[in-house]
Amino acid sequence: MHLLPSSSSSSRLRLLSLALLLHVSFGVAAVDPLYAVCSTSRNYTANDGFSDNLRQLMFMLATKSSPIGFALGSVGQGGARANGLALCRGDIKSTACTTCVRTAGARVRDLCPNNKDGIIWFDECMLRYSDVEFFGEIDFDHRFYMWNRENVSDAVMFDGKVENLMNRLKQKAYISPLLFATGEMEIGESQELYGLVQCTKDLSGGDCKKCLEAVIGELPSCCDGKRGGRVVGGSCNIRYELYPFFDA
Ligand SMILES: *[C@@H]1O[C@H](CO)[C@@H](O)[C@H](O)[C@H]1NC(C)=O
Ligand SMILES: *[C@@H]1O[C@H](CO)[C@@H](O)[C@H](O)[C@H]1NC(C)=O
Repeated sequence: MHLLPSSSSSSRLRLLSLALLLHVSFGVAAVDPLYAVCSTSRNYTANDGFSDNLRQLMFMLATKSSPIGFALGSVGQGGARANGLALCRGDIKSTACTTCVRTAGARVRDLCPNNKDGIIWFDECMLRYSDVEFFGEIDFDHRFYMWNRENVSDAVMFDGKVENLMNRLKQKAYISPLLFATGEMEIGESQELYGLVQCTKDLSGGDCKKCLEAVIGELPSCCDGKRGGRVVGGSCNIRYELYPFFDA
């Protein structure tokens, strides 16, 4: 497994102030992945067919993802067959979604040259491909965390509210057609907690629930007492912040 240096993703968010985050989201965020994982256990060569199939697959995913923010497909046969899926954050508009998926397809091929299996995450979308068909199964292998460096003053109380909000959103998401939910919760005099949960749409509602339960269960290891955090996987992800970060 090849990892982008994990310090690049975690220290990135840790160092960001809100002002900088806003700046980044209008600036380089569109081309900067949060994280990527390439598997080096199976490689392709320029002329074994996989390479062409992968290029076609990336094009198809970008085109097909615009109506509902999700696309899944396969191109080719046998060992040269390329399978992939792309998911945009549930609140992203269709043109931004297409742009993000197109960028993701190009970047993951740069970052995982010749690898038959790879996954990449951006703020607004993720893309996964493999020579092995992986649709409809919860991905427990790919996982990373991001967190805000700042601590809250009352971690126990705050973590309880975060878990509470995440569980509420989980209940909403897994029965919704988009497997996506956002929401907020008042946590004191004038503070709001904002949350987002989402699954890839190849999962059943029941598996979406299981996937979200697993990532919510990792909040203590990820984000204990942190003002903001994300647990991001290949089949589902969650995020919370003390500021609105999604379009309602
Ligand atoms: C695949 O390529 C990588 C370099 O990109 C190499 O480290 C790895 O050993 C290769 N894997 C196989 C199975 O040949
Ligand atoms: C937050 O808390 C952790 C653990 O108690 C500590 O190591 C870290 O320095 C704190 N961060 C800030 C920004 O105060």
